[in-house]
Amino acid sequence: MTFDVSRVRAAYPALSDGHAYLDGAGGTQVPTAVIEAIAGTYRSGIGNAGGAFPASGRADSIVAGCRRAIADLTGAEPDGVILGPNMTTLTYRLADTLSRQWGPGDEVVVSRLDHDANVRPWVQAAARSGATVRWAEVDPSTAELPAAQFGELLSERTRLVAVTAASNIVGTRPDVPAIAAAAHAVGALCYVDGVHVTPHVPVDVRALGADFYATSAYKWSGPHIGTVVADPALLETLHPDKLAPAPSGVPGRFERGTAAFADLAGVAAAVDHLAALDAPRIAPHTSPAPHSGRRRERVLASMAAVERYEGQLFTRLLDGLAAMRHVRLYGQAARRTPTAFFTVAGYSPREVAARLADRKINVWNGDNYAWELAGVFGLRDSGGGVRAGLVHYNDAAEVDRLLAAVADLASGSVR
Ligand SMILES: Cc1ncc(COP(=O)(O)O)c(C=O)c1O
Repeated sequence: MTFDVSRVRAAYPALSDGHAYLDGAGGTQVPTAVIEAIAGTYRSGIGNAGGAFPASGRADSIVAGCRRAIADLTGAEPDGVILGPNMTTLTYRLADTLSRQWGPGDEVVVSRLDHDANVRPWVQAAARSGATVRWAEVDPSTAELPAAQFGELLSERTRLVAVTAASNIVGTRPDVPAIAAAAHAVGALCYVDGVHVTPHVPVDVRALGADFYATSAYKWSGPHIGTVVADPALLETLHPDKLAPAPSGVPGRFERGTAAFADLAGVAAAVDHLAALDAPRIAPHTSPAPHSGRRRERVLASMAAVERYEGQLFTRLLDGLAAMRHVRLYGQAARRTPTAFFTVAGYSPREVAARLADRKINVWNGDNYAWELAGVFGLRDSGGGVRAGLVHYNDAAEVDRLLAAVADLASGSVR
C-alpha cells in the first residue's frame, strides 16, 4: 500500500498551472480519466434514457454504472443510490418527503457543527409541519460535538437526527455511530452529511449507522453531481412528489427530470480513480469498470492510504500555523479531516485569501456555509475565517508555500 503524490498529481491536468489548490474542501480538481469519461460519453452519441436505440441504452448503462460506483464508494446497495444535481437539492427533497410524516409534538435534532445544507432544510421542514427543532451544541474551544448530549436531546418524539460526518471548516469528525445508535434507540432516523468526509476516509454507511448518507462527487475528483444513499427498503416507505409518467420504483422516484448522463459517467470514473490512488500507476484514461466487489475492496484500501497521507501533511500544516503568533486556529478535535480554519491578526479573511491568491495559493474565506459554527466561533459578522483544506493531490511543497505566505503577513511583506 503506497502513496506516490507526484504520480497522483500527474493525473490532474489543472495542477500544472502553478497554483497551489488548497481549496479542495470547496471542490476538487478533476483527473484526466474523469474528463475523458465525460467527453467520451458525448463523443460516442448519447440519447435520453429508456429508449429502444443504442444511444439510449448507453444512457441506461451509465446510470446503472454510476449507481454501482457510488455503492462501491460508500458500502451502499446500487438500488439505494439516489442521484441528483447536488447534496443541497437532494436534502431539501428528502426533508420535504420525510416531514410529511411529522406533526406538532414531533422533534428533529440538528447540530451547530453542520454545513447549513444539513440544517436549514430540516429546520424549515419542521416549521412547516409544526415539529420542534432541538440543537446539538459544539464546544467552542475544541469544536467537538460531544455524542453524549444526544442522550438528553432525544426522546420517543424524535423523528430525525441530522448530523455531519465531518465539519467542512474545522474537520471535526463526531462519533456518528454513537449518535446514530442513540437515534435508532428511540426509533428516529439518522441523516448523515458525508459531503466533507468522503474524500478523506474509507466510508461504510452501515458501520456509521446512517439511514441516509449524502455526498457530492465534486468534492472527490468528480463532476458536479450529488447523491444520497439509503436502504432501498427504507426508500420504499417514502413517497416524494413526482411526475405521473416518471419512474415509480426506487430509487428512480426520488430523481427528477433528465439526468446529466455524461457527468454520471464522470462520477463512475472518479470512483475508479479513487480506487487506484494507492496503485503503482494511475491509468491516464478511462478503464472499464472492474468487478464491483473488487472495486469496493480497492476503494477501502486506497482511501485508507489517502487518510494516512493526508494526516501527515495536515500535521505539517497545523504545526506550522500553530507556531505563528499572528494566526489564530479554530478547532482541535481529536478526530478530524485535514481542514484548517484560522484568522490572521490585522487582516480580514478576504484580504488573507487575496494576498495568498497573489502568490498563486488558493484558499477559501468566509463562513463556507457553516453558518451555525461561524456563530459559535463569533465570526459570523466579521467575515468568517480562512480555510485551507488538503486533499490527496496536495503535497508538502504546497503546504510550505502556504506557511511561508502566511508568515510573511506578520511582517507585512506581502502587503
Ligand atoms: C459538509 C457539506 N455539506 C453540504 C454541502 C453542500 O453540498 P452541495 O454543494 O452538493 O449542495 C457542502 C458543500 O460545500 C459541504 O461541504
